[in-house]
Amino acid sequence: MNLKVEKVLPYNQNEQKSDQIETMFDNIAHRYDFLNHLLSAGIDITWRKRAIRELAIISPKSILDMASGTGDFAFEVLALNPTQIIAVDLSQNMLNVGIAKSKKKDKGNVIAWIKGDSENLAYMENHFDAITVGFGVRNFQNLDKGLGELVRVLKPGGMIAILEPSFPTNPILKLLFSIHFHYITPLVGKLFSKDASAYSYLPDSVSAFPEGENFCKLLEKAGFTDTKHHPLTFGMCALYIARK
Ligand SMILES: C[S@@+](CC[C@H](N)C(=O)[O-])C[C@H]1O[C@@H](n2cnc3c(N)ncnc32)[C@H](O)[C@@H]1O
Repeated sequence: MNLKVEKVLPYNQNEQKSDQIETMFDNIAHRYDFLNHLLSAGIDITWRKRAIRELAIISPKSILDMASGTGDFAFEVLALNPTQIIAVDLSQNMLNVGIAKSKKKDKGNVIAWIKGDSENLAYMENHFDAITVGFGVRNFQNLDKGLGELVRVLKPGGMIAILEPSFPTNPILKLLFSIHFHYITPLVGKLFSKDASAYSYLPDSVSAFPEGENFCKLLEKAGFTDTKHHPLTFGMCALYIARK
């Protein structure tokens, strides 16, 4: 199987992708939540809730929220009443926003905020009951390695829920979504975040990323089983569920 993922980088072709991603999210952290909810009209909140409903069937107690950023997925995970949530991200500025928000949340102290890289996790194998990754896998420097680490730290029988933006299949919606994504998103992002590259990287990286069955094949290659793909909101977002 040849599923080569085209490498799209935010700033230049010389530095490592992970360094550029860290810089990019450090730059936009103060505006991330505002722009995220504005550009998705708040629908991103329902996508995370939908993912949590899938995980509820195994009542996970120990959960890793990989690429946690400002923690919106980690906060949704609290609904499952876990005893431990580990929120890992490359960007300290994103985590700092999450830490500030957690102080105002009921049970926010269940979350531990850790600066780290998905490709090199400091956890034993078979550690977590469940893993969530919201809009993060597309940014991994080495996707196979990052997914391999997630399989390693997940318990046998454990579940992973991954969200990624995707393109609707209906041609009219696809056209409208592409206009929003390729023209409005970079413009609004530039206006509010002062990092024009970050919001042109977003559509470019989504266009280059494998969707649907192709991404399921990558999950299986990494060692996941029972992979399922659920298109959400006319296919504007993809929810992937898998087991170890
Ligand atoms: C688009 S944000 C998503 C944040 C959050 N999960 C959400 O649902 O809103 C992507 C996050 O992935 C993080 N990230 C990207 N690559 C990573 C990696 N290899 N290891 C850890 N975090 C990573 C970025 O720093 C960024 O905070």
